[in-house]
Amino acid sequence: MINIPKGTKDVLPADAYKWQYVEGVARETAKLYNLKEIRTPVFEHTELFLRGVGDTTDIVTKEMYTFRDKGDRSITLKPEGTAGAARSFIENGLGNGVLPAKMYYITPAFRYERPQAGRLREFHQFGVEVFGAKGADADAEVISLADSLLKRLGLKVKLRINSIGCPSCRAAYNKALKEYFAPHLDGLCYDCKARFEKNPLRLLDCKEEECRKINAQAPSILDYLCPECAEHFEALKAYLALAGIEYEIDPRIVRGLDYYTRTVFEFVSDDIGAQGTVCGGGRYDGLIGELGGAPAPAVGFAAGIERLLLVMESTGVKIPEEEKPLVYFAGMDAECRKKAFALTIALRHAGIYAETDHMERSIKAQFKYADKIGAKYVAVIGGNELQEGAMNVKCMASSESEKVDFSSAAEYFRKKKGE
Ligand code: HAM
Repeated sequence: MINIPKGTKDVLPADAYKWQYVEGVARETAKLYNLKEIRTPVFEHTELFLRGVGDTTDIVTKEMYTFRDKGDRSITLKPEGTAGAARSFIENGLGNGVLPAKMYYITPAFRYERPQAGRLREFHQFGVEVFGAKGADADAEVISLADSLLKRLGLKVKLRINSIGCPSCRAAYNKALKEYFAPHLDGLCYDCKARFEKNPLRLLDCKEEECRKINAQAPSILDYLCPECAEHFEALKAYLALAGIEYEIDPRIVRGLDYYTRTVFEFVSDDIGAQGTVCGGGRYDGLIGELGGAPAPAVGFAAGIERLLLVMESTGVKIPEEEKPLVYFAGMDAECRKKAFALTIALRHAGIYAETDHMERSIKAQFKYADKIGAKYVAVIGGNELQEGAMNVKCMASSESEKVDFSSAAEYFRKKKGE
């Protein structure tokens, strides 16, 4: 037998409604905030992620699914959605259109990580990107969208915010980080030694226990913000207050991608263990320019759909059940089953959720099956009914029955649907 690849999961037919529910709420929330959907390819030129996500990040150095295609191009399965959306924004000249350009996506993403609960190699993101607005009100709007989504899904999570400044204040901070970490270099992991040279901010993102201990006392970026970045952060706090959103400031948040400037944030749940970050994002004012576009400010976030579902499950959030068939047509014998088949198809044409037997079951077994799939009514067709041109419709909840002409079946069930 061929098994599913490590770190991937099937969504089985019986569970798909949960995904549809979360995705539906995400789409509705995006609409309330006036966002339109963008769909970009699952794979892109590798170069996009090297330049976009950053060549000192774990994602780029360790986790990308990269291969050469038959034309000898280096191709990478998208590890996240922002770089593709940014590429598309530039390539399609969206910056010349109506700004801000507000968009969302629901996409699979691929990272070669060590799988565990809430951490997969193929996972799915609901992501939001807003291009063209530089003010902190745009940051607050994006955070508010995430907050609305999480509340509508019934999740209790904490918002943590931080500012990681701009390249100019980051230079002073990097210097301070280097001074702090220099005496601890021997205690750092192999990767962090390289990070120390190339991108000291990444040191704060290390997941190794020893490095984390050393990180705990590192200087705070908030003490190094330039006046403009500090002002932006103050404005963000004021807008979050206007939106009625509670938050904690966490100067440890640096995020695992290189494109962020100023605002970064995460929504974290205490209910699913180590992988509690259900949603993360921030501002990335340098990315569009970095990718060769006319510089444009941008802000966004992405939420992991598997993690949202995990938190919902572990906190007992009830997902509305799937709609059940309105009517099941049961036939006593082969001839009657043909009539049941024809009526089922006719009712479906009329927009009624109907089902019938395809397993040559006995009438008793058909009733059992109808009950199992939750049909509200069972319409029974026997020899007499065939002759009369009417069927016996039984309400499964009340056990009451009534005779309904075949010819008025669609009308009858349309009325029942509305009840
Ligand atoms: P990220 O923090 O790398 O940000 O991922 C966003 C979310 O995707 C995480 O909070 C988590 O819920 C989910 N996620 C990430 N990796 C995995 C995994 N291996 N398995 C399951 N879920 C995972 C980004 O991807 C940015 N593009 C977000 C963004 C958009 N920033 C600005 N715009």
